[in-house]
Amino acid sequence: MARAAKIEVKIRRARLPDVGAIIDLTRDFGRAGLMIPLSVGDTLERIRNFLLAETPDGGLIGCVAVDPAWELLAEIRSLAVALKFQLRGVGRELLLAALDDARAFGAREVFSLTYVPDFFRRFGFERMDRNSLPHKVWLVCVKCPKFPDCGEVAVKMRLASGAE
Ligand SMILES: CC(C)(COP(=O)(O)OP(=O)(O)OC[C@H]1O[C@@H](n2cnc3c(N)ncnc32)[C@H](O)[C@@H]1OP(=O)(O)O)[C@@H](O)C(=O)NCCC(=O)NCCS
Repeated sequence: MARAAKIEVKIRRARLPDVGAIIDLTRDFGRAGLMIPLSVGDTLERIRNFLLAETPDGGLIGCVAVDPAWELLAEIRSLAVALKFQLRGVGRELLLAALDDARAFGAREVFSLTYVPDFFRRFGFERMDRNSLPHKVWLVCVKCPKFPDCGEVAVKMRLASGAE
């Protein structure tokens, strides 16, 4: 894949006023069926779970969320980088920050439901049987217009704790 120069971003935790910008950032990906469209209500409820990638001038160009899924298990969700900033290392920064966040949160394993399993594979994720995910995850899936034939692939990765 063609790659432009790496872009420097600051990864920061989302705050309440970021809800609208997160929805703007992800809207086109939701419409294109690449991710579950985010509603204001859902984003507000999950706002503390989001990490954002910000340019030096304060522009929001990427997001990711680390959602609790089960005891010791977290879900990496809503990963998106604005189209014109893709392939410049921002997705990598977001995913690595999300893995750190999940680890700090006490998760021993993370998973994601994705159409880009090859991206996740670069970071050590492996395919898993989505039927083995906790029932709680399906509560989100059943709200998706594509359920049950969405074609998303489940990937997971074990997290080393600081002591390992
Ligand atoms: C997937 C996505 C987040 C990647 O973000 P990005 O900023 O373009 O990724 P990066 O530039 O950090 O790429 C890191 C590495 O992954 C590779 N990569 C990027 N997109 C990839 C893809 N779709 N499949 C496989 N590898 C990919 C890059 O080539 C790069 O490899 P390198 O380190 O060997 O050069 C971005 O394409 C996106 O927002 N897509 C639309 C929304 C989406 O599908 N989100 C995932 C939902 S779970």
